[in-house]
Amino acid sequence: MAHRICFVTAEYAPLAKTGGLADVSTALTRYLHRAGHDVRVFMPCYRRIAERGLPLSPVAGLRNLALTIGGREYRYSLLAGPIPGSGSSLPVHFVDCPALYDRPGIYSEADDEHVRFLLLTRAALECCQRLGFAPEILHCNDWHTAFGPLYLRSLYAWDRLFAGTKSVLTIHNVGYQGLFPAERAGDVGLGDAAWLLHQDDLRTGFVNPMKHGVLYADLVTTVSPGYAREIRTPEYGVGLDPYLRERGDRVVGILNGVDYDDWNPETDRLLPVNYSRRRLSPKADLKKEFLKRLHLPAKKTTMLVGMVTRLVAQKGIDLLPESLPAVLRERDLRLAVLGNGEPRYEQFFRELQRAFPNQVVFHQGYSEELSHWIEAASDAFLMPSLYEPCGLNQMYSLKYGTVPIVRRTGGLADSVQQWDPATLTGTGILFDHYDAPAVRWALNLALDLYADRTAWRRLMQNGMARDFSWDRQGALYVEQYRRLL
Ligand code: ADP
Ligand code: GLC
Repeated sequence: MAHRICFVTAEYAPLAKTGGLADVSTALTRYLHRAGHDVRVFMPCYRRIAERGLPLSPVAGLRNLALTIGGREYRYSLLAGPIPGSGSSLPVHFVDCPALYDRPGIYSEADDEHVRFLLLTRAALECCQRLGFAPEILHCNDWHTAFGPLYLRSLYAWDRLFAGTKSVLTIHNVGYQGLFPAERAGDVGLGDAAWLLHQDDLRTGFVNPMKHGVLYADLVTTVSPGYAREIRTPEYGVGLDPYLRERGDRVVGILNGVDYDDWNPETDRLLPVNYSRRRLSPKADLKKEFLKRLHLPAKKTTMLVGMVTRLVAQKGIDLLPESLPAVLRERDLRLAVLGNGEPRYEQFFRELQRAFPNQVVFHQGYSEELSHWIEAASDAFLMPSLYEPCGLNQMYSLKYGTVPIVRRTGGLADSVQQWDPATLTGTGILFDHYDAPAVRWALNLALDLYADRTAWRRLMQNGMARDFSWDRQGALYVEQYRRLL
């Protein structure tokens, strides 16, 4: 049976992406659309989207609408259109509100950041009303749209259109909860229902959007079963663990999938040659060419390790100053890093490159093309995350025959299986402790293994045979929708 789904998100690939939320929003909704469901995606029309000159059309009757937030009136229109080159006819709805979205980045540090996403969430619901679209599922993502479930139970509860609507909140990262000051609580706009806001938080001086999603959603999902267990503990819950425990079996983990239309070495359009599990030799050519492009001298037996990441504490960068230099000094290793984020981490990689000019290349910035090259050309891929709700690059790496070296946490633990030399099973190298010796141990183990060509090849091929396609993972979401309905 087909379902009507209203999917609200702050990021959508390739139009607006800072991380995996964008990939998942796009791939999951495309899956749902392909599977015959009526999905309506709502996202902001950020400046970068407006400037792309996409053939977007205004939606009839949804122009110049007004929404008052915190006493200020905002005007917005709804634009729609398929995303060109996506190979999908799924229409995306863009909430065009220049006062809030005509800004340089996707996110900002401005004091109305919460307003930007409150408007998105309410606009999605109000557009459903005006379109006469009665969603069976309101699917919200992360703190940005986490007020959706509470809105359904308060502001919009009068409307019979939503009488059958169940709400889902997907937590992609509990580390970002979107706190804003209690003085701005009126911006949520609940009127008489303002008592539904978390009162202790208000007394402490803030509003926590993510917490309201956890409290009021009919179902909370997160992006791996491992992370679903972890966030119920004080170590990983970032203060929401008691509320998540309280929700019992209404908190479930569904591992993200991979969009193999975009991430497949057999068809990757960003690479000059393609390769497969059975025909691996082009991968070696790509490595050679890539090392040349990076001006890194290397022997045929030199191992190349890649990293593509947001440079934030979550990604375990703090472990690297104490581990990488030693391994680089002692072993035959090259490292290609692509990332941006916190200045202190960018600084670290710049210095590492300066200290090891023949071994390390750091590209600061964001590059789709380079990220595909690193996945394809590297022998191994390093993700020493402090925590990782799911992580996508380890799954891309598996498909590309690039052995993941990961910390055993969250989705990394759920998607990578430890290599076992006795049975020749396993897909990568996992380490447990969040410390520098563990990273050194894992890298040295990888280097030793790499020297054994037969074992390494088996390890690569085991990973390449794994399937994390959305056909599988998307169906698990539909199963949860049905459970609610
Ligand atoms: P997170 O969402 O926490 O950043 P994920 O592993 O889920 O982690 O997703 C990260 C996504 O963003 C991947 O598709 C990865 O390739 C991409 N990415 C991260 N940093 C960069 C960058 N500097 N350039 C290009 N792509 C990047
Ligand atoms: C978050 C997490 C990442 C996850 C992504 C998509 O940004 O940090 O682990 O893969 O969301 O769900």
